[in-house]
Amino acid sequence: MASNDRKPLISGNWKMNHNHFEAIQTIQKLAYALEKDDYEAVDVSVHPPFTDLRSVQTVIQADDIPIALGAQNVHQETSGAFTGEVSPTMLAKLDVSYVIVGHSERRELFGETDEIVNAKAKAVLAAGMTPIVCCGETLEERTAGQAESKVAGQISGSLAGLDAATVGDLVVAYEPIWAIGTGETATPEDAQQMCGHIRSLIESEWGAAAAAGVRIQYGGSVKPGNAPELMAQPDIDGALVGGASLDADDFSRIVKYPLYQA
Ligand code: PGA
Repeated sequence: MASNDRKPLISGNWKMNHNHFEAIQTIQKLAYALEKDDYEAVDVSVHPPFTDLRSVQTVIQADDIPIALGAQNVHQETSGAFTGEVSPTMLAKLDVSYVIVGHSERRELFGETDEIVNAKAKAVLAAGMTPIVCCGETLEERTAGQAESKVAGQISGSLAGLDAATVGDLVVAYEPIWAIGTGETATPEDAQQMCGHIRSLIESEWGAAAAAGVRIQYGGSVKPGNAPELMAQPDIDGALVGGASLDADDFSRIVKYPLYQA
């Protein structure tokens, strides 16, 4: 583990993949591949589509699997006339622990603004769950030298109004949009630089304890081969894994990254 007491969190975002039968198979294979030592070193969460949550929850409970259940999105209201949406209390009732909010696909394809992401993060917290708040720049923004300012705006907008203790307990995922699903990964140095920047932004707005506590994940084409080097960076406390989380073998090798570190 890095030289701090933040326990790494490796999260598998299945996106719109795996029906509930496939989801059951995947969680069972994953449970078979992971051992007690793995869970001691690393926290693990899986984020299936909404239609799979109950099935995966049932397997996790029945087999007593120490994998946290996660969701990919949520609506900010508790109930009401919001056709097609799912509320935080519904997720909490299914023993969901982590909810991804503001993933770049939600921001880019479904028009989620920092205000919406902020409302969702607060709603997730109010229901007793932990938000994984995503941020990241496009290739154009990076090329134009605007990556840090884009991420700074997303962090202060998405976390606005949260107190220091709350920020210290949540998870931020830095996902450069140009590295998501493209096979392009930020170099460990670039990823570290931005994660360090995020931690110092949090320190200046919420103080040293919040900055020391918040877990910052890197996301964007994380694979078994590049996970050990990314995870060795001092400000990277986990990974948000898309494509490679669909396969239990690949995902379990990512979770087992400490075995492959020098
Ligand atoms: P990827 O997705 O691992 O397929 O690049 C990452 C993410 O969007 O969470």
